[in-house]
Amino acid sequence: MKITGSTRTVAIFGHPIAHTMSPVIQNAAFREAGVDGVYLAFHVLPENLAEAVAGARAMGFMGLNITVPHKVAVMEHLDSVDEGARAIGAVNTVVNRDGRLVGYNTDGAGYLSSLATEMGFTPRGKNVVILGAGGAARAILHAVLAGEPASVVIANRTVKKASDLADEFSSVAPDATVDVCSLDAKALSGPASGADLVVNTTSMGMDGSPGPDFPVDSMPEYGIVSDIVYKPLETEILGKALDRGLRAHRGLGMLIHQGALGFRLWTGKDAPVETMKNAAMKALGLAAPEEEHPEVRE
Ligand code: ATR
Repeated sequence: MKITGSTRTVAIFGHPIAHTMSPVIQNAAFREAGVDGVYLAFHVLPENLAEAVAGARAMGFMGLNITVPHKVAVMEHLDSVDEGARAIGAVNTVVNRDGRLVGYNTDGAGYLSSLATEMGFTPRGKNVVILGAGGAARAILHAVLAGEPASVVIANRTVKKASDLADEFSSVAPDATVDVCSLDAKALSGPASGADLVVNTTSMGMDGSPGPDFPVDSMPEYGIVSDIVYKPLETEILGKALDRGLRAHRGLGMLIHQGALGFRLWTGKDAPVETMKNAAMKALGLAAPEEEHPEVRE
């Protein structure tokens, strides 16, 4: 990477931030696509967010990624927020348009893009179970509902959060059935038995911790089990799915595809998705995948 006087910066703001894979992925993409840009991570505390955003604007940064815990709070510091991000209620990507900072959310669209590319799955007419009702669930639920599924069940430890989310988003897909239940195997056995897709949006399963209490054994044989956790690549719930012969969709795909959409917003160019994926795999200490389909164990 050649840094010159005209190299432009994209930054990610988060707290904590040291774990982020985005610099590895985006700098590989900049290099491959010949973009004169550099992507850096900044540890921004909540009380410094306003100044950090103003600094990015003042210094003419090309754009930003915004991660936990700033995705909601950043919105009031931007010049405008696109309709989709406003509906989701969170921003993960910011584009500097001639000094005006515009917020977007690529998490939900990135997730669906990953599902479509890697698993050939689209939500239309399908039965989807979403585990969790936090920030990540909001983006995924919004994208899934916009894809006109037959039904969605939101399962959460705190059921009230799931029902609030269902109420808030029900108008996105008026024809879809949206139900809620608690996050336990007994409550989920009915929804699991007809599920085309179950996605874990909670942090359960991260770093080898126990996964969510979901009855994978009740799923139909055509069901896909998906996890947005990508460390480890094969989480507990994905391991159970593979043991049962179901298809497993790994979290790395969402990370890459939300980043690919951000790359496109900043640069106007198509993102080199394979390069980004290979860079991420290398950073995780894994060889580049030889083929697309993640149902094969490494
Ligand atoms: P994120 O932005 O990553 O989605 P979040 O908004 O804090 O983070 O949401 C975390 C989600 O994971 C929530 O659905 C949370 O359940 P609650 O709403 O009941 O808190 C879920 N979650 C986190 N740890 C959990 C655990 N140990 N058991 C069950 N659910 C958990």
